[in-house]
Amino acid sequence: VAPKPVSLKDEDDDAVTAAGKTKVTIFYGTQTGTAEGFAKALAEEIKARYEKAAVKVVDLDDYAADDEQYEEKLKKETLAFFMVATYGDGEPTDNAARFYKWFTEGNEREPWLQQLTYGVFGLGNRQYEHFNKIAKVLDEQLVEQGAKRLIEVGLGDDDQCIEDDFAAWREWLWPELDQLLRDEDDANTVSTPYTAAIPEYRVVIHDPAVVHIEDNYSNMTNGNASYDIHHPCRVNVAVQRELHTPESDRSCIHLEFDISGTGIIYETGDHVGVYADNCIETVEEGARLLGQPLDLLFSLHTDNEDGTPLGSSLPPPFPGPCTLRTALGRYADLLNPPRKASLIALAAHATEPAEAEKLKFLSSPQGKDEYAQWVVGSQRSLLEVMAEFPSAKPPLGVFFAAVAPHLQPRYYSISSSPRFAPHRVHVTCALVYGPTPTGRIHRGVCSTWMKNAVPSEKSHDCSSAPIFIRQSNFKLPTDPSIPVIMIGPGTGLAPFRGFLQERMALKEDGAQLGPSLLFFGCRNRRMDFIYEDELNNFVEQGALSELIVAFSREGPQKEYVQHKMMDKAAEVWSLISKGGYLYVCGDAKGMARDVHRTLHTIVQEQEGVDSSKAESMVKKLQMDGRYLRDVW
Ligand code: 2AM
Repeated sequence: VAPKPVSLKDEDDDAVTAAGKTKVTIFYGTQTGTAEGFAKALAEEIKARYEKAAVKVVDLDDYAADDEQYEEKLKKETLAFFMVATYGDGEPTDNAARFYKWFTEGNEREPWLQQLTYGVFGLGNRQYEHFNKIAKVLDEQLVEQGAKRLIEVGLGDDDQCIEDDFAAWREWLWPELDQLLRDEDDANTVSTPYTAAIPEYRVVIHDPAVVHIEDNYSNMTNGNASYDIHHPCRVNVAVQRELHTPESDRSCIHLEFDISGTGIIYETGDHVGVYADNCIETVEEGARLLGQPLDLLFSLHTDNEDGTPLGSSLPPPFPGPCTLRTALGRYADLLNPPRKASLIALAAHATEPAEAEKLKFLSSPQGKDEYAQWVVGSQRSLLEVMAEFPSAKPPLGVFFAAVAPHLQPRYYSISSSPRFAPHRVHVTCALVYGPTPTGRIHRGVCSTWMKNAVPSEKSHDCSSAPIFIRQSNFKLPTDPSIPVIMIGPGTGLAPFRGFLQERMALKEDGAQLGPSLLFFGCRNRRMDFIYEDELNNFVEQGALSELIVAFSREGPQKEYVQHKMMDKAAEVWSLISKGGYLYVCGDAKGMARDVHRTLHTIVQEQEGVDSSKAESMVKKLQMDGRYLRDVW
């Protein structure tokens, strides 16, 4: 869990620093830490290549307190890079949202950034409809607002190998930067190839008899009960139950976090971020591969013993002292395929020369295809890779700084409404479980944790997890008489269960509810029709006008929610035409894309317009905030 970096001080505002160096600012918009990692790697490489450069890495949220300050500070930047991820439905990351909104919505401004030269590298996934939207829009807007593009926008694709995309983009960048940052004296010299140093914490081993271990999360509240990703709040699991019937070969968990007395507040439609631990089998395997005992008590430090800093590319360490068991359980991402930087760090500590060579090859440009196939394509986890190279047992300071990335929180659409459950946050979570190409059984970290969680209603020794709320704009219309259409197959149902609880509460308060349709989809009525009784009850009580269910594996043909929408095309369009809202939640790559196409067809047929007119009508719905998607 990262402490907030300190924002830039005023004396740093000049383009040329007191020491005569050129200021370079690298901004990042990160959700899972990759963009932040890229920003830091870029900073290190610029520093190593150009003596003239004074480089800063800046979280977009921490850069400025308000719009005015953004403007004031940006005006003083002369050379900047933006590493920005696009996630969900073409949205900026949480830490870039405020900047992005301000920067892109102020586009009626006269060009005002003529002093700025910039480069944008985007992190996205080509499987999604809005591939790298944030990077593309930011790049266009920077030019429109007067800035000078140093290099074409880089479009990193996480579906392939995003590290290769980033490496390729950097190769384009150096010749351009050479012109700006090379001193006249060395203008003709060829720069030597750059190899990144392997970051490493200083490790201190403690005596468990002397050191008292605390729960670090409970110390991390920021004083005013406003919890966020950096300051989660540890809460108990109150309820946990399976939603599928025993006939199903899959699992879906209903879980309730007890938030009473914590000060946590949420709104219907918000998300909850959950820090779950790796399961004990994973932790034990990690300790075995590192050749260290689980009870080893240690702490990590970013300074030398004399107090001088170790280097700026180090990720913020997790709080300590803690045991290796806790460190591997809470903080280490052990089940994702390792990044190339991790392989380089493993190579440096492989005592068997053949293993070191192979690891180096996998992380080199020549080994690109093998890395893509053997690591990424085969979904080999970090632990699996380490098991293949048993002589590579890096010291803990290297392992946590350079080999295992920080374990990230997982986000869920909250499946309750605070009007119905003010002291609870409900989650509806499908278990991620299945074989990978190597035959390993992959178990999702958080869903496995939820599957194994012990609720307080069953035991005093119940499970708990640090959580925080992430606000969303997936909200019911403020006027309850406005029609709503909800489409959410599988766990896409989650926020709509919250919506319906809210509508039920509104109705009980005497509100007049407008018509509502819910399209739900599952495989089979007997196995995975989750919350069936509750949904029927919403209909009986008048919180939902109609429940329409598509069972995909009951008949000879697949029946999906979009087929049911087509059956009801006239009604769907009539409700939307009356000012209704349309909501879609669930899988972005398959379902939401198909539902989007279906909506387009419905508009075209019902309105009798051509395809491009239908498209602009759907766009308009989106722009008006009446077609909302919560997709992943
Ligand atoms: P399937 O698994 O039988 O293909 C919840 O996961 C439901 O969504 C399941 O019934 C699943 O059906 C269905 N589903 C899978 N792909 C879909 C798609 N592209 N559009 C709509 N529903 C889909």
